[in-house]
Amino acid sequence: MVSATTSTSLDDVTAEIVRQFDVSDASLRAISDKFVRLSRTGLELPDQAMTMIPTFVTEVPTGNEHGTFLAVDLGGTNFRVCSVRLNGDGTFNLLQAKSVIPKNLMVGNAVDLFSFLAGKVRDFISTHLDEHFSQSESHVLKLGFTFSFPINQTAINRGTLIRWTKGFDVQDAVGKDVCLLLQDQLDALNLRVHVAALVNDTVGTLMSRSYASPGQYPTLLGVIIGTGTNAAYTESLSEIKKLSTSSSSSFSSSSPSSIMVVNTEWGSFDNDLVVLPRTEYDEAVDLVTPNPGFQMFEKRVSGMFLGEILRTVLLHLNNTGLLFVGATSQELSTPWSLDTSVLSLIESDSSPELVSVKAMIETDLELSTTLSERLAIKRIVEAIGRRSAYLAGAAIAGVVLHTGVLDRLPYVDVGVDGSVFEFYPGYENLIRESLNAVLGADNEGKIRIGIAKDGSGVGAALCALVA
Ligand code: BGC
Repeated sequence: MVSATTSTSLDDVTAEIVRQFDVSDASLRAISDKFVRLSRTGLELPDQAMTMIPTFVTEVPTGNEHGTFLAVDLGGTNFRVCSVRLNGDGTFNLLQAKSVIPKNLMVGNAVDLFSFLAGKVRDFISTHLDEHFSQSESHVLKLGFTFSFPINQTAINRGTLIRWTKGFDVQDAVGKDVCLLLQDQLDALNLRVHVAALVNDTVGTLMSRSYASPGQYPTLLGVIIGTGTNAAYTESLSEIKKLSTSSSSSFSSSSPSSIMVVNTEWGSFDNDLVVLPRTEYDEAVDLVTPNPGFQMFEKRVSGMFLGEILRTVLLHLNNTGLLFVGATSQELSTPWSLDTSVLSLIESDSSPELVSVKAMIETDLELSTTLSERLAIKRIVEAIGRRSAYLAGAAIAGVVLHTGVLDRLPYVDVGVDGSVFEFYPGYENLIRESLNAVLGADNEGKIRIGIAKDGSGVGAALCALVA
């Protein structure tokens, strides 16, 4: 870490920290190159960190799909239950209920977690879908289960949990089929609901973007940059070599389809940190997670970690006597006390006195600041945010290069969802700078990026439909 001596000023040390978070064009290109190599390896061999999971989704929507489906979404701090009516014209009606997952269930046992989820499905059905119960005994609702963690998927509604991410740690669920865990608890409540599809949120994003904006050029990629980060894309079936060698897979190579959606699990790209940047602040953050050494790309990009990276830098500057001089606070020393929304807010404050930054540090960290301290904090925030977007851009460029899509099509469509992409000021422009650095300005101009809202609800419904 950068240490203070009597001659160093906050300005000098800030400049050095900003430099550490900088990612050069050459590094971005090295990241994309390695991404292409790991994509190939992951499609060929099982058990790679960047897993390249075949999802058994072999078609993407056209926009003409119809029907009413149930969808549930487990993947971050909230659990969502929704009913989705697809109107067949690219539009849909969505009704949803959100509940916070109690912290103790995130690190407890599987039965407690999944019976909590089933209970929320029961509550939703009895509040919103009463007519379901009045229908005949044989009427079963199809449910799409968005489960956004690495899965060893063996069929559209079968998959065993490889590992937890994003702060979850329910050990007795690892290695179990999460569809069966949910189905058992739904059955225990006598609900006439069938878990028809297991869907990663990135797959849902890809599906919902394809449904809502069917155009001349199909959507290649669904990306999440929220609490966690990941992407799914359409791959030629023949390229997924490990499908034909896997004994656990129920997929027949005689399938008439020629594509399959692949969930990259890019959060675990370059866990050995050969091409990813590393600062001592990243190392400190990694050590306070339940999975040190894993999800190293995610820990530099996604919302769950950006606030903690910032807190770690600020704490260091405080410890070296350069920031909040003579003061400190419980909040500043408490891991995870800063949310990523804090970075968005600091980034968007362009007032000369940085008044929102001042108010935010007073509220969230209970510390007062001078203007020069706030200017330093803003520079640090910009560096952390820029690095996140640049890395995300390099990974998107990696998928574009890996698929060679620009050799076949004049444009590429990318659907993105997640709080960081949606709310972090200027994030898409920063992604574009990175695409430009890796692919060149011409190719960057051929990449269309659009928000894909409600991917985990609509996308899961679409998967339940094709299941
Ligand atoms: C999970 C992915 C998920 C991503 C975004 C990551 O931590 O491993 O499966 O898609 O978060 O929610």
